[in-house]
Amino acid sequence: MQERIIVVTGANRGIGLEICRQLALKGITVVLTSRSVDEGKKAMETLQKSGLSLHYHPLDVTDHSQIAELKDFLIEKFGRCDGLVNNAGVFADGAFFEAGLDEFHETMETNVYGPQALCQALVPLMKKNSYGRIVNISSGLGQLSDMGSGYVAYRVSKTAINVITKVLAAELAGENILVNSMAPGWVKTRMGGAGATRSVEEGADTAVWLAVLPDGGPTGKFFKDRKEIAW
Ligand SMILES: NC(=O)c1ccc[n+]([C@@H]2O[C@H](COP(=O)([O-])OP(=O)(O)OC[C@H]3O[C@@H](n4cnc5c(N)ncnc54)[C@H](OP(=O)(O)O)[C@@H]3O)[C@@H](O)[C@H]2O)c1
Repeated sequence: MQERIIVVTGANRGIGLEICRQLALKGITVVLTSRSVDEGKKAMETLQKSGLSLHYHPLDVTDHSQIAELKDFLIEKFGRCDGLVNNAGVFADGAFFEAGLDEFHETMETNVYGPQALCQALVPLMKKNSYGRIVNISSGLGQLSDMGSGYVAYRVSKTAINVITKVLAAELAGENILVNSMAPGWVKTRMGGAGATRSVEEGADTAVWLAVLPDGGPTGKFFKDRKEIAW
C-alpha cells in the first residue's frame, strides 16, 4: 500500500499527541508539529521510545511563514501530503460580558485562520495525488443546534471551523479529498481539566477514524463517537 503522510497540529500534548500515537500505530507516517520545538520533540521521543516512528516539524498555526515552511518540508522530504488534522486550539474566554477582543483575536487566529491557511497550503499537494483526508477538531460548544451560554469566542471559532469544513468539502467534491469535523467530547487534557469524563484515547478515536477513511467515505459532515451529529 502507498505510504500515507499525515500532519497533526498542536501535537505536543493532549488529544493531538494521542492522535499521532494512534495514527503511527496504524503504520501512517505522522508529522507531529508543535509551536514549542522542545516540547514537540520531547513528546515525539516518548512515542519513539515505545517503538513508533514519527517525524517532527515546528508549527505555530498562527505563523503563516511557518505554514509555508511546513509545506516546503513536506515537498522536499516526502513529495506529498495525504492528510491534515487541525487539532491545535485555544480556549481563552469565559462569560460573555468578560470576553475581551484580545481573547477573541487569539482564538480566531488559532482555531480558525490557522486551519484555513493550512488547508490552503496543503490541499494542492493532496490534489496532485487525488487523495486527501482533512479532520477539523471542532467541539460540541460549536453546535448551533445546541448553543448555550458562555465561551463566546471559543463557540464562534468552533462554529466557524465547521463552516470551513462544509465549504471546503463542497469545493473538493469528487476529488477524493474528504473533509470532516469532529467533536471529541469532554476530554481530560490541560484544556478539558481533570474533571473531564473522557480519556485522550476516547477523545482521539473519531479523529483517527476520519483521518484514514476509505475512498467514498463521508465528507462535509460533523461526527462524534464515529456517528454523524447535527451542526
Ligand atoms: N479537551 C476537551 O474537552 C475538548 C473538547 C472539545 C474540543 N477540544 C478540542 O480538541 C483540540 C485539542 O485540545 P486538547 O484538549 O488536547 O487541549 P490542550 O491539551 O490544551 O492542547 C492544545 C494544543 O494546541 C496547541 N496550540 C495552541 N495554540 C497553538 C498554536 N498557535 N500553534 C500550534 N499549536 C497550538 C497547544 O500547544 P502549547 O502546548 O504550545 O500550548 C497544545 O499542544 C482543540 O482544538 C480543542 O478545542 C477539546
